[in-house]
Amino acid sequence: MGLSGGTTPLGAYALIAEQAHTLDWPTIDVFFGDERCVPPDHPDSNFGAVNKVLLARIANRGARIHRIRGEINPVDAAAEYDRLLREFAESRRSPVFDLVFLGMGGDGHTASLFPDSIAILETEMWAIPAFSAALDSWRVTMTPAALSNARQVTFLVTGSGKADALLHTLEGPHNANRFPAQAIAPKSDAVRWIVDSDAAGKLRRSYSSAT
Ligand code: 6PG
Repeated sequence: MGLSGGTTPLGAYALIAEQAHTLDWPTIDVFFGDERCVPPDHPDSNFGAVNKVLLARIANRGARIHRIRGEINPVDAAAEYDRLLREFAESRRSPVFDLVFLGMGGDGHTASLFPDSIAILETEMWAIPAFSAALDSWRVTMTPAALSNARQVTFLVTGSGKADALLHTLEGPHNANRFPAQAIAPKSDAVRWIVDSDAAGKLRRSYSSAT
């Protein structure tokens, strides 16, 4: 599985930790959709946040954790992760991932695929360095090709701050440069959006809802 960074999914990851006994962890490889270019113990580290609520709690269960090394040069970290993903893919039938979790920012970005960035246009590499001007920080991100190489992609989006981006992403014209989550298109077409009523507040179409 590929895990999203950010804060929204941390509650879901904590639930997975609570249900850890129900999963066959030696069969599970955990990857990260993106990482901030900071050490793993830095407060901004996606690995650090996920480690606290999930990975440290399943440490002795046999899962293989594949961390993006945010502490090294972004170009080297991206090249290393690209190689790692390709080696892993060689040992798998297609698609590479069974499940990819993603979030979405209020500007419509997902992973570290920011609007109007060249990262969205990348068709060869599976992991690349990405600079966020808004956040003035370097990241490493899986590309749309890698994130789409999945049986199931689940977006977790909450809060009214995401309502405009969600409306444009789900109901607006296709414009992946402006709304990068639209670039995530698994062959299985299995993209699921789990959103709260605040984030869904501007949606016009009807969708299946779960309570
Ligand atoms: C990251 C994530 C990013 C995140 C969105 C939403 O590294 O921050 O990969 O894409 O999913 O920014 O973040 P929140 O869940 O914190 O709102």
